[in-house]
Amino acid sequence: MKNVFSTILVIFIIGFVSCSKPKADDPIITPPVDTTPVVTPVVTRPKTIADYNKVSDGLKDYFKGTDYFYIGGAIEPASVDNPTEVTFMKRHLSSLTCENVMKWSNTEPTQGNFTFASADKIVAFAQANGIKVRGHCLVWHNQVPSWVFVDGANAVTKDVLLERMRAHITAVVNHFKGKVYAWDVVNEAIDDGGSTYKSTNWYNICGEDFIIEAFKAARLADPDVKLFYNDYSETNPTKRDKIYGLLQKLKSQNLVDGVGMQGHWNVDAPSNADITAAFDKYSSLGIDIHVTELDVSVYPNNSDPQVAYTSDTEQKLTTAYSRYFTLFRQYKDKIGCVTFWGLADNHTWLTTFPVTSGRTNYPFLFDTQYVPKQAYFKVIDF
Ligand code: GLA
Repeated sequence: MKNVFSTILVIFIIGFVSCSKPKADDPIITPPVDTTPVVTPVVTRPKTIADYNKVSDGLKDYFKGTDYFYIGGAIEPASVDNPTEVTFMKRHLSSLTCENVMKWSNTEPTQGNFTFASADKIVAFAQANGIKVRGHCLVWHNQVPSWVFVDGANAVTKDVLLERMRAHITAVVNHFKGKVYAWDVVNEAIDDGGSTYKSTNWYNICGEDFIIEAFKAARLADPDVKLFYNDYSETNPTKRDKIYGLLQKLKSQNLVDGVGMQGHWNVDAPSNADITAAFDKYSSLGIDIHVTELDVSVYPNNSDPQVAYTSDTEQKLTTAYSRYFTLFRQYKDKIGCVTFWGLADNHTWLTTFPVTSGRTNYPFLFDTQYVPKQAYFKVIDF
């Protein structure tokens, strides 16, 4: 038996060797070329600061504008001269907003004298780095020079005021034509109390017409740029419904393309229910939603005392950011852009608002040194 097995084994080995050994007259066989495409390995999303420092991807890569929404930040012109901020913006942003320099007080401080140099600097930086620019804002009751509302010693008439407004909008929109993809045409016109519209110079002199005429002038100046109405407390049900009413009126005349929800929120509010109800209601008009000024205060109440950035504060901020970004992702088909009102904790208007001093705030995903916080790792972990 043993001999039979040995014989079979020998025959098998001889057969194998003779088959595998090329003979002189065998054709030369070139090994097939592997045509499988080279797949770049998926970079693991960092979970620690050490890992963050090893990769170059940022928010704009995790939330690609085409799949999710553009990621924006609001800046002053000095940011484009600051190497740390430049590196940060190139890594994380796909959209930029001028924090102040496109506002009326900066672009037409005296009648007919337009000053665009500061905004142009930001726009040039954005263009050089493939970052889109949101225009903010054409008509607002704040940061508008006083000459706009007077005529000599008298208050300006409605007709003259509307003419000044049209002239301003036309000049500014024309100047940035092709460089700005969306404009906040009117900012904060809706009242927080019992009235529909806020009592401002604009409303008191022109009534609702200033809003409609502003959108008409912007549409006429650049039919291709997207036009937005922008406001705060946009998830508050009463205010939401008033904003909706205005948007509906504008939409029926094809004057509006989107709503800017500022997103000056805090670690407790708004609730998921109020946010989704607002998303649903606005988007039912077939318009785009941009979150235009996101920052998450660690102080839900004006009376909250100063806190240090303890692990408890960090936990609350992380939970809130996770909640908000989970909703943004769920509504990615309705949301075109999420812009932070700043970049990192070293620069935020919340240091002096609504409490004017003595309260440090920590509203962003990055600390004062541009180092990512736990909230950052949580937001990109999906
Ligand atoms: C509002 C305006 C912004 C900015 C913030 C405060 O939300 O829309 O332009 O002025 O207030 O920084």
